[in-house]
Amino acid sequence: MTTLGLSADALLSTTRAVRRRLDFERPVDDDLIRECLEFAVQAPTGSNQQGWRFLVVTDPDKKAALADLYRRGWDVYAGMSASAGALAVGAEGERASQQLRVLRSASYLAENMHRVPAMLIPCLHGRIEKAPGMGASSMLASIIPSTWNFMLAARERGLGTCWTTIHLMFEEEAAAVLDIPYADVSQIALITIGHTLGTDFRPATRESASTVTSWNTWTG
Ligand SMILES: Cc1cc2nc3c(=O)[nH]c(=O)nc-3n(C[C@H](O)[C@H](O)[C@H](O)COP(=O)(O)O)c2cc1C
Repeated sequence: MTTLGLSADALLSTTRAVRRRLDFERPVDDDLIRECLEFAVQAPTGSNQQGWRFLVVTDPDKKAALADLYRRGWDVYAGMSASAGALAVGAEGERASQQLRVLRSASYLAENMHRVPAMLIPCLHGRIEKAPGMGASSMLASIIPSTWNFMLAARERGLGTCWTTIHLMFEEEAAAVLDIPYADVSQIALITIGHTLGTDFRPATRESASTVTSWNTWTG
């Protein structure tokens, strides 16, 4: 597979949540996913535990079952105060329109979830909710960098991904679909994967780093 040849800075600033520009009709080669996973396992883990487990879902029936759970969760999420739509209320200018774009894009993904060519479920041994503060942080930080590595490698190979968590409202049911031993294994996310329609993506508009950074003393 040819890579896009993006600079490191371009890769880091243009790896977006891709939903509307996913090619649902074009399958993703298993080997391409395997290649991206080789970068996932280059990530750091607490005590170098490397306890990650990755479950790739390409089976149409299993994807459909996960998509059904996702849509059930989406209905709940839409009414939550932290939803993209709720955050648009009270926001102003570009931030408000950005939130509405996220909402439209996310509802498009929810409607089309079953059509996504592949899904990746990053997992870890143990239940996160049972771990004490430092344990939970260490667990999450021992899977999130690897998953982001996967997403960066995917972008470089012309694939679009989106980090999603909504199916986790029904994590136990999803575990049953995938034969994951729920009591012993936490699912962290559901990453959607597909070829992108075009490969040109722009950096996002964000509040500047300087306004959210304090030096030496907390300034909020
Ligand atoms: C922890 C987390 C959970 C997310 N959950 C979802 C989700 O369930 N569904 C979805 O469509 N997008 C989800 N997203 C994607 C965000 O909406 C997206 O990263 C954000 O809007 C910024 O978009 P951008 O990365 O393209 O700039 C999630 C992202 C993160 C980091």
